[in-house]
Amino acid sequence: MPQYKHEPEYLHGAEASEQARLEAMVKILGGAEFLPPLRPGMRILEVGCGTGTIAREVAERIAPGQIIGVDQQEAQLQTAGRIAARRGIGNVSFRRGDAAGLEFPDAEFDGAYCRFLLEHVADPVGIVREMARVVRPGGWVCAFEWENGCSVIYPDSPAVAKVWQALYDLQVAMGGDAVIARKLYGILTQAGLRQVQAEGRAWSITANDKEKLRVYVDGAREIIRQGRDRLLSERRVTEELLKQADDEYQQLLESPVTFVMEGHACATGIKVV
Ligand SMILES: C[S@@+](CC[C@H](N)C(=O)[O-])C[C@H]1O[C@@H](n2cnc3c(N)ncnc32)[C@H](O)[C@@H]1O
Repeated sequence: MPQYKHEPEYLHGAEASEQARLEAMVKILGGAEFLPPLRPGMRILEVGCGTGTIAREVAERIAPGQIIGVDQQEAQLQTAGRIAARRGIGNVSFRRGDAAGLEFPDAEFDGAYCRFLLEHVADPVGIVREMARVVRPGGWVCAFEWENGCSVIYPDSPAVAKVWQALYDLQVAMGGDAVIARKLYGILTQAGLRQVQAEGRAWSITANDKEKLRVYVDGAREIIRQGRDRLLSERRVTEELLKQADDEYQQLLESPVTFVMEGHACATGIKVV
């Protein structure tokens, strides 16, 4: 198996199917609810904004304030800008940038947040510290991640479990961290934030909620598709295992007794001088 020693390569890419996954995710995860209170006139930063799903909602809540979304992938920024323009949201803007070195002066924002970013970076503490740098004293930094330890799927789906373990191992080999959600309290504390609060939440989808179940299964299948070539070439999975996992996902969609439970964690801290 190859050793990935460089900066983490971003696993999900920015194809149209990945962008559709991010946009659909709001149906099961919600949008900006995890953030501290937002008020009109605030100036907010999202790091790793993707297609701007959350940034658009923040923009509406803080108008006439401004939100800037930063992402390293041009394709995400173009889609984010297009969707916001189509919806007539004028107080959000998107810029290319690297979370590790934000091109903003100190104390520029009232708050900065990231969702599903820290799992992909080499130095999460350094990135939270960088987010804190651009927040004013008294402002907040907030991070949200998926807690992979909370995953329960019924009817039992052993192939799905094996494929996801292989994906987590791949993510770690690539320099990321598949179990970062449980570390957020420590990460924000180590980054020098104060009054850090972290909360974990589990949520579930049942057989009767066909729309959410479809979003969940489509999203999972998309991530497996993104990792497929690497998983196979590095012999982390076999074609047969992938096929079994896909069949199990189909069973989840069709079974009258399906129950899926997942979880996330969110941490917020305050910047002091
Ligand atoms: C899984 S997406 C999440 C997007 C959005 N936060 C959401 O919740 O819908 C993660 C995003 O972080 C971006 N990203 C990853 N590493 C980054 C880095 N070092 N600097 C800036 N953006 C980064 C990726 O390009 C991707 O668009």
